[in-house]
Amino acid sequence: SDIYRAGISGARPRVPVDADALEAAARKALSAEAFAYIAGGAGAERTVAANRAAFGRWQVWPRPLRDVSERDLSIDFLGARRPTPLLLAPLGVMELAHAGADVAVARAAASLGVPYVLSNQASVPMEDVADAAPTVPRLFQLYWSASDELNASLLRRAEASGCEAVVVTLDTHVLGWRTRDLDLAYLPFTRGLGIAQYTSDPVFQQLVRERVKSQSAAPTDAAPAVRLTPKTVVAGVSIARKGEALTGSSSVRDNLRSPLPRAAVETFLDVFSTPALTWDDLAKARQWTSLPILLKGIVHPDDAIRALDAGMDGIWISNHGGRQLDQSVPTLEVLPTIADRVAGRVPIVFDSGVRQGSDVLIALALGATAVALGRPYAYGLAVAGEEGAREVVRNVLAELDITLGLSGHTSVTELGREALRQV
Ligand code: FNR
Repeated sequence: SDIYRAGISGARPRVPVDADALEAAARKALSAEAFAYIAGGAGAERTVAANRAAFGRWQVWPRPLRDVSERDLSIDFLGARRPTPLLLAPLGVMELAHAGADVAVARAAASLGVPYVLSNQASVPMEDVADAAPTVPRLFQLYWSASDELNASLLRRAEASGCEAVVVTLDTHVLGWRTRDLDLAYLPFTRGLGIAQYTSDPVFQQLVRERVKSQSAAPTDAAPAVRLTPKTVVAGVSIARKGEALTGSSSVRDNLRSPLPRAAVETFLDVFSTPALTWDDLAKARQWTSLPILLKGIVHPDDAIRALDAGMDGIWISNHGGRQLDQSVPTLEVLPTIADRVAGRVPIVFDSGVRQGSDVLIALALGATAVALGRPYAYGLAVAGEEGAREVVRNVLAELDITLGLSGHTSVTELGREALRQV
């Protein structure tokens, strides 16, 4: 109702309320490369489309004449009451959208009490985000590195900097076939963007020093400081905004024009993930951290059960917003089955394709405990920085609240399948 009142009083929104208009505004604000990286999906982007289409197969069934004057969006999640059922999904390389990047998002999330999942590919080290926005509930997302020492170090830092849980992303053991990026010959990491969690890590810095030594390049002990400075972040952003295209080699290693030492970028490319990861490896994470562990990228019901058997504390149904596997299974299609099989034993986070408040309601009604938002907040960030990201999240929450009331419910926790009709 605040949002409506502001509208009536003539205060124009900073970001378009309509999801498609928001994406169009972000496209305008960004370079071709930055927009392609954020908006794009894998292959022919059929998974991206299928994620959206899946929501169209459910309708919200309105039930009037039930007093809905008091409505409650809060949920229990990871041992705490949260004011809303939303999370901000981990998005890497947010300096592409705005120079404030993860700090701006964290401040927006803090003001709404929405937990923020810090990306392993963040533009700002997790400790700096913690300093800048100490009140935001934080989780840390890990891409399982080829270096176990690095994994252990990242998780130690997550715990030490106040993260409440670890989210291990499982669907990026091989980087997806990102057609838009390939056409533009654009991979931000090769420019030193989105690698701040690495360059601020002592284990990673040691790996870089070893690499420099083994390449017998000078200086050895006085190895390059590979910490991402604000200046290099800004350099990256200005490259992205100008839309300067890379010259045509297909090899990312040939395309290095990073302001960071080349060795840091090469080391990153080597350790970033491992296609050899298996279920057996997951047990190691328990030695590295005492935080709750959620697995992100679960799409098959059998894998959800396997995660429970492996003692995981939560599952996160996601196909990475269609950025990894094209022709993949849309997440909403499998949510009800997975929710039935999990039967409330651990929380279920849901993402991929959520664009508006009614999407959140549908996912909750089909069994999600919490719902994560991806691209829309990046678009808000691109259009109007911290305020833009906040406004996007507020709009989703406002529409969720209205949809809850119109559907005849007073609490998101009472939503079930009877709130919906399948088309
Ligand atoms: C992502 N996603 C992602 N996931 C992850 O675990 N770690 C990461 O660093 C990133 N980075 C990232 C960057 C960008 C630009 C996008 C769009 C996505 C995936 C993200 O967490 C989430 O699963 C999807 O964004 C959800 O889909 P929607 O909401 O974007 O459709």
